[in-house]
Amino acid sequence: MVDISSALGPEHPGVLNFPSLSELDREELLRIARTVASDVGRFLITDRPKELHASVKSSPTDVVTEMDRIAEQRIIAKISSRRPHDGFLGEEGTSQSGFSGVTWIIDPIDGTTNYLYRLPMWSVSIGVAVGTTVVAGVVEVPAMGVQYFGSLGKGAWMASQSKTDAQILTCRDSSRLAQSLVATGFGYSEHRRAQQALILTQVLPHVRDLRRSGAASVDLCWVAAGLVDGYYEYGLHPWDYAAGALIAEEAGARVADLYGGPPTERTIMASAPGIFDELRALLLAANADSCT
Ligand code: IPD
Repeated sequence: MVDISSALGPEHPGVLNFPSLSELDREELLRIARTVASDVGRFLITDRPKELHASVKSSPTDVVTEMDRIAEQRIIAKISSRRPHDGFLGEEGTSQSGFSGVTWIIDPIDGTTNYLYRLPMWSVSIGVAVGTTVVAGVVEVPAMGVQYFGSLGKGAWMASQSKTDAQILTCRDSSRLAQSLVATGFGYSEHRRAQQALILTQVLPHVRDLRRSGAASVDLCWVAAGLVDGYYEYGLHPWDYAAGALIAEEAGARVADLYGGPPTERTIMASAPGIFDELRALLLAANADSCT
């Protein structure tokens, strides 16, 4: 279960006990998320300025473009027009409590550096939480022509421009870490990157190979789609993982923090169940939990 209570905090109305939503409402939430993610994904491609300006955020390597901010506002406006009482938590500063118990967790462009460089691995990521439980998630990857989506307890799918029907997603049936392709990502602080590099030196000798797509939401969907066997990272934000973690879990992957609880902003792991314990033991031996 992907639970975002640590991100919403006890004072957020989303954590109060609201009556559970009917199946119909959940389908409606997913439908809205899919439509909005696909509209905004298209906009990010068609309206990308010839010269895209990036400014820095938490460190010189952490960039944001004008398109991140515009896209976040468009997503919120589109959702609010349909659901005026819901709350929002977005990467570009939105933190709005609602009254309905539903919170939308938004990363308008996950993988901003890839977007800046025209690499295709970036997404519009939209998670939907009822209370603190993520019940639906959409990861739209416009430059690759695919949309990943999932619904709690129902499954995960990939819709692609080239196929009429969405395909059900199932993670890989891997059982040996030594033959596994593992994705990871890096934070933006120099200090954390140095620690992450040290951990890499201890992971790389024990896996088939490592991959770094540049977008955590895409990594998680690649676990769901069986394009990699596993993924781990430290220091993500809920908007980076809410939607992708649900999709991975619905595709049969084990998704947790390093101690087996729900993923947090400190650590996240997602992998084929057969390699999860081995990968976790390796990360703990590499002192990954002391990454700050
Ligand atoms: C980043 C990406 C990246 C991950 C970083 C995230 P952003 O999100 O998901 O893959 O390694 O930790 O911050 O900044 O591109 O939205």
